[in-house]
Amino acid sequence: TTVEWEAASYDMGGHDTYMHKEIHEQADAVDRVLRGRIDERFSTVHLGGLNLDAREARRIRRVKILGCGTSYHAGMIGAQMIEELARIPADAEPASEFRYRNAVVDPDTLYVAVSQSGETYDVLAAVQELKRKGARVLGVVNVVGSAIAREADGGIYVHAGPEVCVVSTKCFTNTTVAFALLALHLGRTRDLSVRDGKRIIEGLRRLPAQITEILDQEQEIEKLAARYAEARSMLFIGRVRGYPVAREASLKLKEVSYIHAEAYPASELKHGPLALIEPALPTVAIVPDDDLLEKNRAAMEEIKARSGRIMAVAHQHQEKADETIVVPKNEDELDPILMGIPLQLLAYHTALALGRDIDKPRNLAKSVTVE
Ligand code: G6P
Repeated sequence: TTVEWEAASYDMGGHDTYMHKEIHEQADAVDRVLRGRIDERFSTVHLGGLNLDAREARRIRRVKILGCGTSYHAGMIGAQMIEELARIPADAEPASEFRYRNAVVDPDTLYVAVSQSGETYDVLAAVQELKRKGARVLGVVNVVGSAIAREADGGIYVHAGPEVCVVSTKCFTNTTVAFALLALHLGRTRDLSVRDGKRIIEGLRRLPAQITEILDQEQEIEKLAARYAEARSMLFIGRVRGYPVAREASLKLKEVSYIHAEAYPASELKHGPLALIEPALPTVAIVPDDDLLEKNRAAMEEIKARSGRIMAVAHQHQEKADETIVVPKNEDELDPILMGIPLQLLAYHTALALGRDIDKPRNLAKSVTVE
């Protein structure tokens, strides 16, 4: 069972679908999640609702992030940022799996529940189970006053504004930014230098203009979508920072276009998926300009050698790819926030070309509030 879709209550603002509107709201949305939170003086951020003092923050030995669907993917990016910036071991797991496996609940672990709606039953049940066992749980939530926000010990509101389309776009982006804030905060409470704190703050400030730059490429992405809409299946690859981006892009394409898609770590290609490569199976490769660039190029070469077609999302034109969507470079740690945005547009235009019911895909609901 699912909650009623409440589209009628929000204005489309001249867009044909809520998905299109919400994709285009992302620069403003990111501006809102940052607003009032940056602390220049100490090169950190203020997160008023965290309810975690510095002494407690320093005692955290692990971070475990729980969410479902797109929120789980935002959590995967969050876990990487926390490891990179705060050097605390962190990982994300689907809340729906966690709650059924009698997980070891550890008092030195910080648990973070991620949910746009704040009402997803599997996430709420995981939070309740954790609290029953004495864990500290934070919420990273969009809807103010929602069940998960109320149940958590503290948290961060992502302030993306109302999201009506069943598939999540602006909330995903804002959630990843909220995690960057949490990672920076935990990092600066521990060993992250002032210099790195400043570098991340400057990177965060560049995000809204860079999002606008990406969205300005919509026409070209629309043309690519027309070409890829004929595919029966697509492969999305990335490694480390690029992998959760590939996961989310693959989910987005499945949800709105109904084209089968699979995400794989580029490093695992040779252990199986290479067998699938042929001209009819296009690959989307996430290729950030970081220390894994050469590895990613080699993966594209493997695919080309087997006559596979490749679309790269990268910071510079990729020779091995048939087409490249170039996105603006930010700090390495923050790149994943931006790299999925053109692929939201790709999913959107592919679905449009196929005549899909974009705001309300078959069989899916905005929030799943029961078992
Ligand atoms: C549903 C929606 C997804 C969403 C997931 C988690 O499956 O269709 O788009 O990512 O629930 O929702 P939440 O509100 O907890 O982020």
